[in-house]
Amino acid sequence: MYILSLFTHTFVRTTRLGIGSMLFIMWSVIPVWAANQQQAEKMMTTVCSTCHKIEGQAESRFALKAPDLMWAGSKFQKNWMIDWLTGKEPTMYQKSYRWDQSQEPTPHMTVPDEEAQALAEYIETHLQDPRVKNNPIDMTTFSKQEAKFGEEIFKQHSCIGCHQIMVDGKQTGGPQSTSFFNSGQRLKADWIYRFNSNPPDFVPHSGEFVGDVSELGLRYVTGFIATRGVEDFPFYEPWKSAEFDHPRVENGAQIYKEYCAQCHGADGKGDGPAASGLEPKPAVHANIPFDKIPLDYLYNVIYYGGKGVGKSPLMPYWGLTIGGKQGVADVIAYLKATFTGGAHVASAATNSGSSGVCPQPRNTKRAPGKFRKLTNPLPNSPENIKAGKKLFHETAQPLACKQCHGDKGDGNGPMGAALNPHPRNLTCGETMTDISDGQMFWIIKNGSPGTGMMAFPGMPDNQIWQMIHYIRTLAK
Ligand code: HEC
Ligand code: HEC
Ligand code: HEC
Ligand code: HEC
Repeated sequence: MYILSLFTHTFVRTTRLGIGSMLFIMWSVIPVWAANQQQAEKMMTTVCSTCHKIEGQAESRFALKAPDLMWAGSKFQKNWMIDWLTGKEPTMYQKSYRWDQSQEPTPHMTVPDEEAQALAEYIETHLQDPRVKNNPIDMTTFSKQEAKFGEEIFKQHSCIGCHQIMVDGKQTGGPQSTSFFNSGQRLKADWIYRFNSNPPDFVPHSGEFVGDVSELGLRYVTGFIATRGVEDFPFYEPWKSAEFDHPRVENGAQIYKEYCAQCHGADGKGDGPAASGLEPKPAVHANIPFDKIPLDYLYNVIYYGGKGVGKSPLMPYWGLTIGGKQGVADVIAYLKATFTGGAHVASAATNSGSSGVCPQPRNTKRAPGKFRKLTNPLPNSPENIKAGKKLFHETAQPLACKQCHGDKGDGNGPMGAALNPHPRNLTCGETMTDISDGQMFWIIKNGSPGTGMMAFPGMPDNQIWQMIHYIRTLAK
């Protein structure tokens, strides 16, 4: 590593020339900022450009010494550039930028704080790329659920094969290109979007990858990358928007009749014409006290469908069909006004008996052998049980377990009676002794297909094991 300081050289030289010299007077009349910027330009053209291209066309990395900086002002956040140039950031290419020559990364040159500030300022003002437009995606309306979809795309479209992210607290993926642990602190969302739209515009023949992603998918994956490492990113919460302050119940009733009744039944009894062919059965809305169900969950399951929240894709995603946010607000208002949970409509099929019975009929799929044999790796300590309890009752996302399995774990939560088969009665010793730790682990991770038991794929493994310790305390 070497510290290079053109600026300090300059200052030293001016002082040495002595007070009263022409040069000193020149310095004091040129505003400090402009002087800074002249120095920054000089440094860019004499030092940085020995490794980086700062103008011209994109080229393959195999013809370059370092990444192109022609668009660095559009690409990087200023504070990150300052940290990078002062040596506060880890190397980005873990296998070195030119991995074809050496896989040992060399530390980047550093400059003092003041110079880094001036360089970052210079780059931000001068190295702009006109192809990058302002706000092609509106990050002020980007939600957690969208980030979740972005993560799925990131995994499904192999992005994780070359770019690492944190999964379950671990660095995961291939370290071939830059990592995205903190990409939200480093890259600007507008640039990420433009890059993702056609990577070869920026890094042709460098091993880059063009994902087959829809425009909406591009929003999700861009927002996902743009929020990594940003603590307290103000994720948008659509259910807190004005549409929810002024829902139109009559419009909600109309939507229900036109779009929901075909499966859920005109009176919410789960007996619409399509229901007989569906597994799982459409929820019996008449049995749900909708006022007690968290609004964020209702919003997401209706807007993004069952699949969006780890449930069955047989529950369609309605956001694009019923009038977006306003339509969803309207139909939720209708559900709340109409169904209060007192109906106790019997489920069409009864393969799991009524809610809360013991022993409870159980047709759940068996986990693959290697999972079934797993035992809980965490100690059965009061701390783990307490942590599991909190997840079960409050914090599990997208929906706390108690909403279905009930406060006591007997399967009589607010949503319990709406589901067929009913939620497992976790208090029933007779049924629970036959269910191994590994079986539970697998079901919680993947859901129980064809039933209302949703998947929790994003939940860290150790949290699932904590809940399993808690669940074991419920059975009598
Ligand atoms: C000796 C060659 C060399 C010099 C001189 C050099 N850099 Fe770099 N720079 C690199 C390499 C190599 C990387 C790739 C980073 C890595 O390996 O982690 C890089 C990365 C960067 C990045 C991040 C680029 C990206 O797309 O990820 C910025 C910004 C940057 N340098 C700015 C500068 C500035 C400003 C200067 C002049 C003050 C400078 N560099 C001087 C070699 C150099
Ligand atoms: C086969 C490997 C590979 C795959 C798969 C891949 N990328 Fe890349 N990605 C690259 C390379 C190579 C670059 C250019 C930077 C470099 O030279 O490493 C890059 C750069 C990027 C950058 C700019 C990052 C920066 O710090 O300069 C973004 C954003 C990006 N990719 C997003 C994606 C997304 C989104 C996907 C999935 C749809 C994806 N990448 C899949 C290899 C890959
Ligand atoms: C094609 C059939 C179908 C239509 C049409 C349909 N649903 Fe559903 N819905 C389902 C199924 C199946 C489930 C159960 C999903 C599961 O448990 O995995 C469900 C479940 C639900 C749930 C409960 C979610 C839960 O966690 O169990 C709500 C709320 C819901 N639907 C609302 C609606 C609304 C509002 C509409 C109309 C805008 C609608 N559904 C239209 C099939 C449908
Ligand atoms: C939307 C309702 C719902 C939510 C939320 C829910 N469950 Fe379930 N759960 C069910 C239903 C329904 C079944 C019965 C599935 C079956 O019969 O195969 C079930 C079954 C189970 C089983 C029994 C698996 C077996 O092999 O018999 C376990 C364990 C379980 N859930 C744990 C959890 C945990 C832990 C959570 C929270 C992280 C959770 N559930 C959240 C509805 C739910």
